[in-house]
Amino acid sequence: MSRLDSFIRRLTAQKHLLEDVAARLEGLDGCVLELGLGNGRTYSHLREILPEREIYVFDRDLACHPSCIPDSEHMIFGEIRETLAFCGPRIKTKAAFVHADLGSGDPTTDLATSSWLSPLIDKHLADDGYVLSGLPLQLEGFTEFPMPDGIRPGRYYLYQKVSEEKYEDGSLRNVSAARRGEGHRIGSDFGRAMDRANAR
Ligand SMILES: C[S@@+](CC[C@H](N)C(=O)[O-])C[C@H]1O[C@@H](n2cnc3c(N)ncnc32)[C@H](O)[C@@H]1O
Repeated sequence: MSRLDSFIRRLTAQKHLLEDVAARLEGLDGCVLELGLGNGRTYSHLREILPEREIYVFDRDLACHPSCIPDSEHMIFGEIRETLAFCGPRIKTKAAFVHADLGSGDPTTDLATSSWLSPLIDKHLADDGYVLSGLPLQLEGFTEFPMPDGIRPGRYYLYQKVSEEKYEDGSLRNVSAARRGEGHRIGSDFGRAMDRANAR
């Protein structure tokens, strides 16, 4: 496959997954955390598909298209390892959705990122909230959903924070109830997930 085809597939998959998660958020309160502004493409799309949500954006740089610069209240500059840990006073609500687009392409850096990022995401995510990530995360007890057809395993990861009680008794309140059968509960299979990511 040409690099152009691969690029188009990756962005198409990202768009479909963002829209899929947006549809799942109905009935779930909370803001959105966009980890990695980059060019601003996914932030711009999130603003369109989730116009009522507050979206907080994290990056160490500002290198996006001028039309996608968040206002100063919603742009959080610096190393995410620090800013996400200490953004509590600014971001008062838990997140209904965290989108993390922080893959570096280097397996060692990505492993390190997953390891510090996972507990921080867990801390800021509301119950029943979703995480879409380009890197596998160590989110013990979360549900991981399989990727739809056409999206290569190891390219994206979709998780939901479902409490054990709800998972066990099958009484999920929101849209996730209908979809609960799709996913599997995360245990200690992180090593395999990382192997898949490294094989991309
Ligand atoms: C792949 S780009 C994000 C692309 C974006 N989602 C888009 O659609 O345009 C990743 C971004 O994350 C930022 N980033 C990566 N690791 C970071 C870290 N540890 N702290 C702060 N920013 C980071 C980089 O500066 C870069 O802008």
